[in-house]
Parts: sequence; structure tokens; C-alpha cells
Amino acid sequence: MSPGHSQKPATFSPGGPLRGSVSVPGDKSITHRAVIFSALAEGETRILDYCRGEDCLNTVRAFRTMGITIDEQPRELRVTGKGLWGLSEPSTVIDCGNSGTGIRLLTGLLAGQDFFTILTGDESVRRRPMGRVVKPLREMGASIAGRKGGELAPLAVSGARLTGMSYISPVASAQVKSSLLLAGLFAEGRTTISEPSLSRDHTERMFGYFGIPFDRKGMTVSIAGRPAAGWAGKPSLRVPADISAAAFFLVGAAIVPGSDITVRDVGINPTRSGVLDALTSMGATIEILNRREEAGEPVADLRVQSADLHGVTIGGELIPRTIDEIPILCVAAAAAQGTTTITGASELRVKESDRIAAVGRELTKLGVSVTEQPDGLTIAGIGGAPRRRFRGGVFQSYGDHRIAMSLAVAALLADSPVQVDETACIDTSFPLFESKLLELLT
Ligand code: S3P
Repeated sequence: MSPGHSQKPATFSPGGPLRGSVSVPGDKSITHRAVIFSALAEGETRILDYCRGEDCLNTVRAFRTMGITIDEQPRELRVTGKGLWGLSEPSTVIDCGNSGTGIRLLTGLLAGQDFFTILTGDESVRRRPMGRVVKPLREMGASIAGRKGGELAPLAVSGARLTGMSYISPVASAQVKSSLLLAGLFAEGRTTISEPSLSRDHTERMFGYFGIPFDRKGMTVSIAGRPAAGWAGKPSLRVPADISAAAFFLVGAAIVPGSDITVRDVGINPTRSGVLDALTSMGATIEILNRREEAGEPVADLRVQSADLHGVTIGGELIPRTIDEIPILCVAAAAAQGTTTITGASELRVKESDRIAAVGRELTKLGVSVTEQPDGLTIAGIGGAPRRRFRGGVFQSYGDHRIAMSLAVAALLADSPVQVDETACIDTSFPLFESKLLELLT
């Protein structure tokens, strides 16, 4: 939960079906990157349909404190970039709130500047591992101090002359990859990063969109540091709608009988669209309509009709492609017939909350039989005949937006209301979530 947020309990009622067409916020991952690349561009970029969640607004504030002018309208950010070396030393601490992406990408970006910064975040961010970016950045010459030897924020980044390097990342993490690529832009020589399987590639696509040269071969990406020429701002960079936000309604429609919804303008980048593959393999009826491209990212409208889902195994390369959607996929699994097994997902333990533990506990309270493993969950779904319902009651979000929204969707199939202790956290990624859900229910 971001500082300043008060506890906000909410009650979600059983209901449905979900019907109609709906829009969801702009993609959070792409919005962070759009702000970063626009701030480093020469001149103005108009970022359209950006994510207005607190996470991205914290990144906007961070760049303002570093001297970048950003005009914020409801559907558009106007960023006046000052070029690659145009950032200036902030006179105060940068607070990234709840955003792991914000703090990790900024740590990389700021490591090679010629000024000092302190980066921090809320209680959840201050518990999350930062060593995964701090250690390789130090190998590039970065001077970063932090709690527990730099494992935990706040981080003090002194700014140093960096040298490019080759790094083999032990985790498929776009935050690690992007942090090092951003540091690499300011380093002497080439920076090369290999990952065990492909994580979301929005940073690479953004390089392409702004015309910044980079190389990709399989799981390896590299960039030359200190490019002779910078890049120009873009007259309009339209952010696709966030598939991670859409996922709550996609699952809601898939599990609540009689539903038929369309979510408009959703980013379907293959490094993010694992949720569509997982739901389809469970028997969901999904149509991908009106395919097109925005800012180098594939986009489509997604139509989902309810179906009888069955259990599946979710693991391997599907995990990085669906990592943020696993909590809501667990709700789909809980509503399905048969057993779903999720493996190879230990990264879930270091997200906004320990999502394996959180999902395990809350699904159990919903009356579902769940077993927790170190790297996943086994869920025995309640689906099939005779139709059973989840048990309502009092639930915990652990201050995690994706757990709160997953519980709201589970409530649709409950036998009585689902009370969630804290829902202010939903604003980190999906302001207006509740009203959009109600829109689909009427
Ligand atoms: C993100 C990468 C993922 C994801 C997070 C956003 C990004 O984290 O879970 O919500 O924008 O780069 P990891 O890179 O740690 O897997």
C-alpha cells in the first residue's frame, strides 16, 4: 500500500453475468517506459491513454523532481524531454510508492548519471529484493548503498562512470533486464544481458519505436552505450490497454455463466499474453478481434464468453508470460472442474506480496482445497455438476492490488458477500476497477 493511503475495506457481492464492452487502464509496464524514454528524448512526446495508477504517477513525479516538465491531462501526458544527459539532481528523495518496476528501472537509469539520488518506496517495496539489480550494476561500476548491503531500499545512488558488461541473469525478469539496459545507455562500451527465458520485451520495443539501435539474438539483448546521437520525442505514443488489468474481467466473464464481454484495445504482446493461452487451454472461449499495432506493440479487442473450465498445468515458459495474472488465474482454476497445478513460479513470493501464500490462504477461506509448494500451488477446482459456489466471508488483500481484485472477481461466484480488508491498493494499477466491474454487471 502506498504511503498516505488509508485502509479501505470493501464488500463485493455475488452477481453476474458480465456483459458488454469495457475499457481498462493503459499498460502499467509500458507507461513507466514511455515516461522514461520521453524524458530522455529531445523535445515533446505526447503519451496517450497512459496508466493513471499510482505506480506510474510516482514515476511521473520522479522525473519532475529531476527537472523534466510533464503536463498531466486525464488521457494524455505531455513530456518535454531534455535529451540523454538532460536530467538534473533531485533535491529530495524519490519515492516510487508500491512500484518495483519504478524503483528498479530508475536505479539502473540513475547509476550512470553525474549526480546523487535516494530512491525509496512503500513498506512492500522496502521488503522486495533489490540485490538483483544492485549487484550487476555494481559490476558495471555503479556506486549504490542500501540497507542489508544494498539488498533493500532505500537505495542511495551516487552516480558513477559505468562500463558495459555481459551479464547472465539467473531470473527471467524484465525489471532486471530493463534496469541494466538503461544503465547500459550511459555506460562506456556494450552491455549484453541474457535471461533464462524471455521476459516482457517492452523496453526493447520502446528502443525500436524511438529508433535507438539494439541487438537481439534469442534470449540475449545488447545495447551500445553513450550513443553519439540522441532521439527525438514522438508526437503521439498511444499506450495499449493493460492485459494484466483486462485479465480480471476476462476471467470473470469466463467463469460466470451467461457472460459475454469485449475488452477493447488490449496489448497482446506475446511476452505478456500467457493468460490468453492459459485460459484457452482451460476451455475458455476467447476471440481476438481487430488486431493492430500501437507504438510497436500488438493490440486487439478481446471477446470472452463463459464456458465450463477444466484444470491444467501451468509452468515453464508460460510463467514469465503470465506472471502478474497468476492470482486471477488461480480464481479461474478454483472455479474450474479438476485440478490445476502451477509450478516454477517462485518469483510470485517476491511480488507486491508473497502471492503464493496469499492466494493459498484466501482460496482456502473461499472453501477451495489448495496445497502450497515453494514454487507454486495445486488447486482442486469446485467446478462440474452439481454446481458449487465459493464461501463468502472476510478476506485479506495483503495490500496487494492483484489479490484485492482477484477476490472481487471470486465474489461473483460466492454464496454470500466477500469483504476485503484493504482495497485502496487497487489504485496502484487500476483506479475505477470497481465501477468498471459494476458497469459490466448491469
Ligand atoms: C514488470 C516486470 C515483471 C512484472 C511487473 C512489471 C516490468 O516483474 O511482474 O509487474 O514492467 O518490467 P519482474 O521483472 O520482476 O518479473
